[in-house]
Amino acid sequence: MNTGKPRKGEKSMNTTVTVLGLGQMGSALARAFLAAGHTTTVWNRSAAKAGALVAEGAVRAESVREAVTASEVVVVCVTTYDDAHAVLGPVADALAGRTLVNLTSGSPEQARERAAWAAAHGADYLDGAIMTTPPGIGSSAFMLLCSGSPTAFAAHRDTLAALAAPVDLGADPALASLYDTALLGLMWASLSGWLHGAALTGSEEVPATRFTEVATRWMNAVGGFMTTYAPQIDAGRYPGDDATLDIHLATMDHLVHASEARGLDTGLPKLLRDVTARAVAAGHGRDGYAALIELVRAGGRA
Ligand SMILES: NC(=O)c1ccc[n+]([C@@H]2O[C@H](COP(=O)([O-])OP(=O)(O)OC[C@H]3O[C@@H](n4cnc5c(N)ncnc54)[C@H](OP(=O)(O)O)[C@@H]3O)[C@@H](O)[C@H]2O)c1
Repeated sequence: MNTGKPRKGEKSMNTTVTVLGLGQMGSALARAFLAAGHTTTVWNRSAAKAGALVAEGAVRAESVREAVTASEVVVVCVTTYDDAHAVLGPVADALAGRTLVNLTSGSPEQARERAAWAAAHGADYLDGAIMTTPPGIGSSAFMLLCSGSPTAFAAHRDTLAALAAPVDLGADPALASLYDTALLGLMWASLSGWLHGAALTGSEEVPATRFTEVATRWMNAVGGFMTTYAPQIDAGRYPGDDATLDIHLATMDHLVHASEARGLDTGLPKLLRDVTARAVAAGHGRDGYAALIELVRAGGRA
């Protein structure tokens, strides 16, 4: 009988993996495990969604309990942590001795709570954040952020590499969600800035594709600024030796005015300018851009 548990000392290339939740992301995960040659058991609340994967070689589980007991690694990817708990709560006893990998999006606090719950039921727990959309699954160009049990990560790193490049963030299970939230914030801020730029240049008939050729090159430079400023943040000193906040503030005025003159939404430009103006008013005018983190940390107060 296949208990889904590895025999002692066994290190197999073929890991038994279960995927619970076959929405857009869960289906992509199951497909990537299959493509990597892992024995993949699947379960979904709406059973019909398993059909295509079964045709591709996955094993259909008729119940959550059957799905959990089939594999050494149990991946759950449903809408919310509450949904994941609704699925796994009734079969908690079946998790003992297995590794639960939670790829459902949630908050850092929820991740810590789930890790404690899993430990109380004898399971190793990894929390993960998938830093791509379903079409990117299976490519090492994208990251799978992982945090939680170091033994689980060491044991299953290679298996998880079928999904994306695993990044070990450490033993605190909250860290994957924390990084995920921070990185999504970075993505939204960047994409909103890019959209504003596309609207601004588009107002003068520049196609978004042309603007984007230049914008993506600029993003490489912006990444370089981040690398320069990060040690300043760690040191708590922000020398304005490349560009001062006074200079940034004057340039932000141009963005506001150019946007106003073209009838564009000025919400984002004014937000950037107002935050910088508050920092300058508080005496940071001769500091560099990274000094703005002081306002962020102080709840927006300079
Ligand atoms: N899509 C992305 O690009 C992406 C990227 C990174 C992370 N994620 C995360 O991955 C997770 C899944 O996203 P998705 O895009 O796959 O969403 P989705 O296509 O809407 O699928 C949601 C899945 O959750 C299941 N589900 C929801 N509530 C449930 C419950 N109470 N009990 C049992 N199953 C339940 C659904 O089952 P039914 O089929 O029965 O409704 C379905 O399998 C989310 O946490 C999302 O934030 C998604």
